[in-house]
Amino acid sequence: MSNMRTAIYPGSFDPVTLGHLDIIRRASVMFDRLIVAVMHNQNKKPMFSVEERMEFLRRTTVELSNVEIASFGGLLADYARQQDACAVVKGLRAVSDFEYEFQMALANRKLNPQLDTVLLMTSAEYMYLSSSVVKDIAVHGGSVAGFVPDRIMQDIVRRTRKEG
Ligand code: PNS
Repeated sequence: MSNMRTAIYPGSFDPVTLGHLDIIRRASVMFDRLIVAVMHNQNKKPMFSVEERMEFLRRTTVELSNVEIASFGGLLADYARQQDACAVVKGLRAVSDFEYEFQMALANRKLNPQLDTVLLMTSAEYMYLSSSVVKDIAVHGGSVAGFVPDRIMQDIVRRTRKEG
């Protein structure tokens, strides 16, 4: 058990996109255990509740046996210590993501010296993709096919119709 290499992939996942799923798949083969952790207590007003976001993640990662879905609040560095995690995984889409991620990686390592950050470069087809883009398309009645996993598409359509 103590030899297990655990990593955490934190985020808002509001909702999970194909870009996130690509990072989850790739990270799951790099570590023994991958915790996808939905951040709660964020200032942003989410479209989906933490429970809904976790359920979407569970539904789209059922085939990945070493992936667990969880939620966390407070500092990521503390949560990683609780989970005995050695790494934080993040996806990088562009140079513009880098500065923020670099700053967070250094702060997290200062707070928890056992914690390293692994930045995975996005697959090219997902460079432009973000949860905000998905929400914007959905709210304006566009199709989110090819942006989010098929298994959650109906839930997004239903939510945006209810609010529209
Ligand atoms: O998907 P997001 O919204 O870009 O994810 C941001 C997240 C959750 C990874 C980031 O806000 C975070 O790590 N929050 C935890 C609070 C914390 O530890 N802050 C200090 C980091 S330096």
